[in-house]
Amino acid sequence: MDLHDYRDVAENYDAYLDVMYAERDNYEGFREFYLELAKKHGGAGTVDIACGTGAVMLYLARAGLDAEGTDLSEAMCDVARRKAAAMGLSPRIFPANMTDFRSDRKYSLAIIARSGFMHLLTPEDQRKALLNIRECLTDDGVLTLNTFAPFPPIQAQQMRTRPDDYTFRLEYTNVDGFRERIYNAITYDPATQIMSGNWKFETLGADGQVVAERIRPLKMRQTYRQEMLYLAELCGWEVTDIFGDYHGSREDTGRYVWVMRKKDGRF
Ligand SMILES: C[S@@+](CC[C@H](N)C(=O)[O-])C[C@H]1O[C@@H](n2cnc3c(N)ncnc32)[C@H](O)[C@@H]1O
Repeated sequence: MDLHDYRDVAENYDAYLDVMYAERDNYEGFREFYLELAKKHGGAGTVDIACGTGAVMLYLARAGLDAEGTDLSEAMCDVARRKAAAMGLSPRIFPANMTDFRSDRKYSLAIIARSGFMHLLTPEDQRKALLNIRECLTDDGVLTLNTFAPFPPIQAQQMRTRPDDYTFRLEYTNVDGFRERIYNAITYDPATQIMSGNWKFETLGADGQVVAERIRPLKMRQTYRQEMLYLAELCGWEVTDIFGDYHGSREDTGRYVWVMRKKDGRF
């Protein structure tokens, strides 16, 4: 089980992400970026893959666009559905793995936002997902996803980190009204390009003492720019844009926002 499969993580996801990204947000402007793409390419519908609690799907649906969501985690889908209902929306949201999901319709845009693609831990699964998403899109379908490439100074540090070498990340108030502190310890394996993290959640009592603790594991795979280019090409995609952020920069930041179009032919 990975972090997002846990119900306590899904329930508190929005609350702690708000605090995490208030200081430094690698995805700043992502919703607006995807809204523009959906207006341009989402005529036959948009699917938000690895939709989580619906950050993108609900933003698009609220703007009146045809958007559905899918996520591996049942708990995340439940939270997304509950948020949709509270907004008076009822987009279809279904639990599925991006490597093999199917829908009864073809979409013209697929979005994998905020590093959802990085949860695929092997090139085989990345390939399966790219081929599968291709099948779920119309002939002129567009896919956008983001990846981070290994950044040697940080990964060198992570190679020295032990799985219980925790660093404080943030403090927030959970859905039950308790303060919680979050720490993580992330190690890196250069052979597989996988970052393995332990995320520790400490719940605080009224006097500030730790009254409960839970540890949630999370693995993500980093992908080199050239690797992703080849993978996309091999799986029947023409890369039309590679941005360095969500404002259209083409600077090579090592953090890539990919936009690709389905190519003709069999793959
Ligand atoms: C970092 S969260 C991003 C969620 C959402 N896109 C957002 O922007 O808030 C990554 C999501 O990917 C989902 N996920 C991980 N592996 C997946 C897979 N193989 N297929 C579909 N979803 C997956 C997780 O359950 C989690 O909700």
